[in-house]
Amino acid sequence: MSRPPVSPLFTEEHIRQRVEELAAAIAPRLGPEPVLVALLTGAFVFTADLVRALSRQGVRPHVDFMVLSSYGKGTVSSGRVQVKLDCQESLAGRQVLLVDDILDSGNTLTFAIEHLRRKGATEVLTCLLLDKPERRQVPITADFLGFTVPNVFIVGYGIDYAEQYRELPFVAMVHEE
Ligand code: IMP
Ligand code: MG
Repeated sequence: MSRPPVSPLFTEEHIRQRVEELAAAIAPRLGPEPVLVALLTGAFVFTADLVRALSRQGVRPHVDFMVLSSYGKGTVSSGRVQVKLDCQESLAGRQVLLVDDILDSGNTLTFAIEHLRRKGATEVLTCLLLDKPERRQVPITADFLGFTVPNVFIVGYGIDYAEQYRELPFVAMVHEE
């Protein structure tokens, strides 16, 4: 499979600083036994850095994961979101910090919040690494946001283009032919 060229948007150092700032902003909002629910696969690198930054702020969350899918094979949101793998932790009466990589149409995040509330979460706070506000179909914003990006295709730091580029240690944009 061809790898289209990419160019860096946010460096490792830039991301590291922003993740520390996010953790410092999130920590005072969390109660004693929060559950961090991260959406796989795109948020796995961000989550790994965020939990360690939260630890430095004294936060000790349970960490759980969900796999949702909305895109099918395309790169445009279908608007239909499905649970492919549910989280394991009991959420009844719990505060949840929901972590994802990119807020795009808003369909995934809207569905995920509703799903976690149906499972009994008393509060769902959201933390997104990136936001593409131009692409929104559903009116929703993140409680905690790393960076706003233009309407370009993003890769790196866990985020893929056809399963490629997740390993990049920085966030980049794809130059599509
Ligand atoms: P939404 O439901 O349209 O908001 O989709 C959000 C999800 O789409 C994110 O969790 C990403 O997995 C994926 N996504 C959106 N934009 C990009 C991108 O530029 N690169 C890679 N994945 C993306
Ligand atoms: Mg995703």
